Amino acid sequence: MAKKEFTVTPYEAEGKIDYNKLIDEFGVERLNDAVLQRIKKHTKELHLFLRRKVFFAHRDINWLLDQYEKGNKFFLYTGRAPSGPVHIGHLLPWIFCKWLQDKFGAEMWFQFPDEEKFLFKQDLTFEDTNKWMNENMLDVIALGFDPKKTRFIIDTKHANIMYKEACKVAKKITFSTIKASFGFTDSNNIGSIFYTSMQAVPAFLPSVLKGKNIPCLIPLGIDQDIHFRISRDVMPKLGYYKPAIIHNVFLPPLTGIGGKMAASGANESSIWTTDSEKDVEKKIKKYAFSGGRKMFFEPDDKKLQRIHNDYKSGKMLTSELKEVLIEKINSFLKEHQKKREKAKSQVDKFVNWN
Ligand code: TYM
Repeated sequence: MAKKEFTVTPYEAEGKIDYNKLIDEFGVERLNDAVLQRIKKHTKELHLFLRRKVFFAHRDINWLLDQYEKGNKFFLYTGRAPSGPVHIGHLLPWIFCKWLQDKFGAEMWFQFPDEEKFLFKQDLTFEDTNKWMNENMLDVIALGFDPKKTRFIIDTKHANIMYKEACKVAKKITFSTIKASFGFTDSNNIGSIFYTSMQAVPAFLPSVLKGKNIPCLIPLGIDQDIHFRISRDVMPKLGYYKPAIIHNVFLPPLTGIGGKMAASGANESSIWTTDSEKDVEKKIKKYAFSGGRKMFFEPDDKKLQRIHNDYKSGKMLTSELKEVLIEKINSFLKEHQKKREKAKSQVDKFVNWN
């Protein structure tokens, strides 16, 4: 059998990822102009992640907008499994969530499955995941989510309201489905087999708690799609809507063209949100393959086009391009780090809501 050119699962992203192939393989829909225009009707402008196709695919966005247009507002759901520091790639879906919260006045449910990486990584303890969760929460709060409209849902803390719902999901998913979907074998631990059902819960938990069906939109990196490919089919069987999903591409690692920037990756291949100006400068100068593809931090399309043209024509050197990138990332991080400090006094509001 020919070796696959690339792999994208929640636990591995490798090779040069062909997003067009993923669209077919995962059975998602391309985020085409018609859908973008429909979104724009409500938001008046398109976020740069939509203009630049950082978000490139979806499931059931048209259905979600039908509901919205009938006055049936949706909530947002996304998450982070704490196992290490946050890198600038993680921020892509979360920055977009914040924009959607503002534009649609949506409630945000942000899951911290603190047991996920505990179950999947041999050496990680609950003390570790707890420490990283406390750190990671600051990054999420720093993005400016409205504390009155945003709830953090922590699997071990909120187990009392989650577990029963997770069991209802788990009862409708067979071991053979999980094995085939994740490539698990008989030697995977039984906690990891159950995990998908915990990730499914926040997609309908607000409907359970409020006693009425509420549409849900999940922005996420495409590696997470599989959990919902499995659990979306279960939700109507429990009486809830299937959540709509919108998928982003990966910010690649600094050191190459394949895979994704990853928390488990080498220090030199990721830019952490806590990196100093010097760290960023060093990593980009020393390791970055080229700066071009990481320019999500330049909001001005015209400026970006100019940089692109100058670089292509040879007017701008790689070293100059890297300088622009260093400046962009450092000015973003400077602000982010200030907000991250302020976030420390706000955690309680996001966590203690029930
Ligand atoms: P986690 O913690 O691995 O990643 C958090 C989110 O970041 C996205 N992501 C990236 N996006 C762009 N470029 C990258 N290099 C990059 N690396 C990671 C991931 O796709 C994800 O959206 N099981 C989940 C946590 C979770 C979750 C959810 C995610 C719980 N509920 C609902 C999305 C939606 C996880 O391990 O994500």
